Amino acid sequence: MKNVRLGIIGLGLMGQGHARSLIERRVPRMRLTAIADTDPARHQLFPGVAAHTDASKLIRSGEVDAVLIATPHFSHSGIAHAALRAGLHVLVEKPLTAQASTARRLAAAAARRPDQMSAVMLNQRTDPFYRRIRALLHSGRLGAVRRVQWTITNWFRSAAYYDSNSWRATWSGEGGGVLLNQCLHNLDLFQWLFGQPTHVRAHCNFGRYHDIEVEDDVTAYLEYPDGAHATFITSTGEAPGVNRLEITTEGGLIIYENDTLLLRRNAVPMSEFSRNTAGLFSAPRVTDRTWRNLGHGLQHVGILRNFTAAILDDAPLLAPLADGVASVELVNAMLLSAWTGERVTLPLDARRHDRLLGEKIAGSLLKP
Ligand SMILES: NC(=O)c1ccc[n+]([C@@H]2O[C@H](COP(=O)([O-])OP(=O)(O)OC[C@H]3O[C@@H](n4cnc5c(N)ncnc54)[C@H](O)[C@@H]3O)[C@@H](O)[C@H]2O)c1
Repeated sequence: MKNVRLGIIGLGLMGQGHARSLIERRVPRMRLTAIADTDPARHQLFPGVAAHTDASKLIRSGEVDAVLIATPHFSHSGIAHAALRAGLHVLVEKPLTAQASTARRLAAAAARRPDQMSAVMLNQRTDPFYRRIRALLHSGRLGAVRRVQWTITNWFRSAAYYDSNSWRATWSGEGGGVLLNQCLHNLDLFQWLFGQPTHVRAHCNFGRYHDIEVEDDVTAYLEYPDGAHATFITSTGEAPGVNRLEITTEGGLIIYENDTLLLRRNAVPMSEFSRNTAGLFSAPRVTDRTWRNLGHGLQHVGILRNFTAAILDDAPLLAPLADGVASVELVNAMLLSAWTGERVTLPLDARRHDRLLGEKIAGSLLKP
């Protein structure tokens, strides 16, 4: 195979963006050869490309080697299973699915087909700032992470955004709000950087800033096996918002904000210094290092290029499909905690989450 023939399923905001990237040849060795959308009006956007109203027809058409699934979340897993069964490579938009239960089943199905590449569109993994933070943490030079605080409230969305599509911000259409949609990226990065916590306690406000039934304001507390803990705060209603990530490690403090990454490196790890100093109020000497102008990387195009390289050259995937499970599990755990008032243990009891989500869906006033 010299080029990957890609079919895009779902030509809304995101699917159209991906299609344009391909038509503008921003992804070498990948060609858009088919599209599918249940709304036939969308087919005219890309004349000359084979079009289908039914995703399964595209999957069986023989026109594609791989599919990119960019439909609303609840439909991701059914389409992905069908594409895997048809022997295709599969790239699924985030969130992998709306529920950890379906995400786990999909990851298991993908694992049974190691010759087919399967990945998730976790495009923020291409961002050089987050990659640099990960490299710093994984280098081991900073020692253990003790505390993390991420306030990510710059996901502001207007009422018009929520009104733009009937599935948005409904239990029945989406299964969650800011956590599952916007913050899925940040929760993926959270577990990519720090691993999965053992316990989650979350407070969610549902429709605090918008006339929606799902959460648009969240404060969560996460606990890790080694005693580290974290807070995660997000909202789609605050303006101006902020994206500030603070990571306290034994070896120093990392702060990322306003496209600036600052490492405040301790000359001596903080606990060691505390144990050994005779000074009552002394603290370790600190050396600062700053990174600016790293840019934000290739994002979606970066994931598409990596997916192409995985298929054609066996390159390692930046965001393998199985990696999409953890962030969905975190979202489900936060919602479960908010609904029950409980501190939720991970791995998540997915059936319990699904039962309560089912009740929300049954009571949903806003049907898609
Ligand atoms: N990675 C990112 O940065 C990013 C950004 C935005 C959206 N997304 C994800 O992309 C997905 C789609 O979001 P969107 O904003 O483009 O939604 P959208 O509503 O704008 O588009 C969805 C499209 O899918 C079509 N569709 C629905 N069900 C279908 C089916 N069964 N078969 C074929 N077509 C179907 C609809 O007609 C519509 O054209 C969501 O899961 C969302 O989370 C990811």
